[in-house]
Amino acid sequence: MSNIRKYVIVVFIFTIVSSSTLFNLAYSKPILGKKGMVVSASDLATKVGIEILKKGGNAIDAAVGVGFALAVTFPAAGNIGGGGFLVFVRNDGFATTIDYREKAPASAHRNMYLDSSLSPIPSMSTEGVTSAGVPGSVAGLLLALEKYGTMSLQEVIQPAIELAERGFKLNYELSQSLNFNYKNFEKFPSTKKIFTNNEKKFSDGDIFLQNDLAETLKRIRDYGTDGFYRGKTADLIVDQMKGEGGFITHGDLSNYKAIERLPIRGNYRGYDVISMGPPSSGGIALVEALNILENIKFSKEDFHSSKHLHYLIEALKCVYFDRAEYLGDSDFVTVPVERLISKQYAKKIFDSIDLNSASKNKSINAKVFESKESFETTHYSVYDSYGNAVSVTTTINGSFGSHVVVDGAGFLLNNEMDDFSLKPGFPNMYDLIGSEANSIQPNKRMLSSMTPTVILKDNKPVLIIGSPGGPMIITSVLQAVMNIIDFGMDVEQAINMPRIHHQWLPEEIYHEPFALSSDVKMKLETMGHKFQHRNSMGRLEGILIDRKNNIIYGATDCRGSGLAEGF
Ligand code: DON
Repeated sequence: MSNIRKYVIVVFIFTIVSSSTLFNLAYSKPILGKKGMVVSASDLATKVGIEILKKGGNAIDAAVGVGFALAVTFPAAGNIGGGGFLVFVRNDGFATTIDYREKAPASAHRNMYLDSSLSPIPSMSTEGVTSAGVPGSVAGLLLALEKYGTMSLQEVIQPAIELAERGFKLNYELSQSLNFNYKNFEKFPSTKKIFTNNEKKFSDGDIFLQNDLAETLKRIRDYGTDGFYRGKTADLIVDQMKGEGGFITHGDLSNYKAIERLPIRGNYRGYDVISMGPPSSGGIALVEALNILENIKFSKEDFHSSKHLHYLIEALKCVYFDRAEYLGDSDFVTVPVERLISKQYAKKIFDSIDLNSASKNKSINAKVFESKESFETTHYSVYDSYGNAVSVTTTINGSFGSHVVVDGAGFLLNNEMDDFSLKPGFPNMYDLIGSEANSIQPNKRMLSSMTPTVILKDNKPVLIIGSPGGPMIITSVLQAVMNIIDFGMDVEQAINMPRIHHQWLPEEIYHEPFALSSDVKMKLETMGHKFQHRNSMGRLEGILIDRKNNIIYGATDCRGSGLAEGF
């Protein structure tokens, strides 16, 4: 079968599949806008952002409004009890990032999650207050607004307060995920009170009220960061810790600072890539992978051919090996950023790839776990009528984070401490291995995979993109970028196409349904690659800007139920 026929068939099958239960939205064209666009995982949050843009706010104003709204309408991942990264590219080409990743409490130490025989204590880093890092979201959103926004905090946070106070109708996805997590929520009385429905199941259409959260948001509105990191909210967080053996103190909260950092910059086939640096691995991994893959030319017909996938997999092996070996919080360890994102280094890796066979993984003393399926983080992309771009990924790590709501404050705490390497070679909940670079130290930020990214052409934003998915974030963003630049897809196609994922360890390559035709799979297996099926990986939210025709295209991933809206 010719490659072009294969391509047509893949697209055709995908069009049919996308209307089935696997992908709950039919394949469609991207949403069009002339002035601005917001794409997020929650329709209500997207609308908050659009209203802010329509009032003349810029992309930062809208992003901060969307961030607070997501904390109300998408509690599985949107948050004020977690952290995130924001990438901002201004219309004049200036680019910066805000790091509001959670950090380890001051009392943290490298063996804090190990028992006396140095084995990780089950669930201590993944559930309950012991798993929480010091939250960064409020500090980060407020820093972004103060430095680069144009509207007041009162204006941008008010819609979130109203959504919490007046309530909103649960959609099908949220009602199901609350019901699905009942057993996790009932373990913690403060969580059970809010996220369960008096022993009954939630249904879509139920009104969901969050009064305690509304009061916390009002304290933030009235006192800024002090409304969260000091005073009543801080007292409630610390009380929660004391009752249940947690580590976060008043000092940890009042000392938390969001940090403005230089972005990671790369170039791929004439496009500039602006993404997040340490403590995220996302930007470095994305640029390293693109640099390796730039050494081979792809045509449209190569999409998901054995050539495309073999090189992609081999590049990913090296990228994730480097991630495990070298990456951590660069305020604590030396990360060889320049080397990892250099074209020369990528060329060496490319030259070492055998065209005909899969390379053997370097052996490592690692115990590999079967990872769980249900994870949550969330990404949103914003573009405004002034030409500014904002790309934000935010998380409480696992779905509904630590599962602990701060009693009286109404928000969930993260379980981000699990993103540290608890012990060299021991995989975290995403099967990621780490080394000394990502070991626990007091006040250190845990390594992330979040990859909020903006791609520029001639110094102007053309693509704003990112995803949840733990380690699959990097591969989801990478494939969407390649789908657009190498394979000429529109942003909706690029986001919805089936994906593969490989992260060096475990050795298997994950693939979504219809990502591989049987002959491509067979060929790759003869070359030594091993595959495993996964239902769904990543959930991209993207904006593509066609500068020539002055059209903004927005697309939300059919794997979720978000909303792209333009105006
Ligand atoms: O920062 C990270 O890389 C992880 N905590 C992200 C977790 C995640 O994406 C889960 N979502 N699907």
